[in-house]
Amino acid sequence: MPPAIGAPPAAGKLPQPPKSTPTFSPDDVTVLFVLGGPGAGKGTQCARLVSEHGFTHLSAGDLLRAEQERPGSQFGDLIKSYIKDGLIVPMEVTIQLLENTMADTLRKAGSAKGRFLIDGFPRKMDQAHKFEETVCPARMVLFYDCPEAVMEKRLLERGKTSGRADDNAESIRKRFRTFVETSMPVVDYYEREGKVIKIDATASPDKVSAATKKRLTEKLGSSF
Ligand code: C5P
Ligand code: MG
Repeated sequence: MPPAIGAPPAAGKLPQPPKSTPTFSPDDVTVLFVLGGPGAGKGTQCARLVSEHGFTHLSAGDLLRAEQERPGSQFGDLIKSYIKDGLIVPMEVTIQLLENTMADTLRKAGSAKGRFLIDGFPRKMDQAHKFEETVCPARMVLFYDCPEAVMEKRLLERGKTSGRADDNAESIRKRFRTFVETSMPVVDYYEREGKVIKIDATASPDKVSAATKKRLTEKLGSSF
């Protein structure tokens, strides 16, 4: 068995049988997926929901970048090349990172109950199905809708200081393509399921944040 992702290799563990039920029950754990193109403002909006509403923010991209840097990770080179080309890292890696981090968060809080914003995930249909089957069914999807021209301007600006290998014109083009071809079908799928809250992400962070809270309150009640 390969070493656990996001953790030191665990010696002597038996292979796990395939799971038929999710690790976390939606009665205990609330999951909101946060989607939108690169540069739509997902991270910015999640940070506000964390500070004002006590969610735990898990960015799939941040977890992948951390795993890429982790000494001894067997996935470092793979993650690096996928990110540079704006491609979707194989789902097993990302889902295991998310599940490990959710379990750690609950363990540290000493509680079975938690509320998670999962940012930049699922970016592909297989990730959506696998996560809901094996980790936790999602409650809603926040979708930040933004034209490419606006996102491109934001990403090029961020690229001046972000140090990210993919905030450059060539990687941005590839990320937009992946978003349209691979990630929008996920948004469309959840739309058909009636789970999407679509928010215009072109306005200022304050305005987008106010719209987010209003729409979440309508859907989940005032104590969301
Ligand atoms: O969300 P963020 O822009 O930080 O993601 C950066 C990159 O990480 C993506 O372009 C993609 O290569 C990778 N990623 C992924 N699967 C996800 C989220 C991010 O492969 N669910
Ligand atoms: Mg982000």
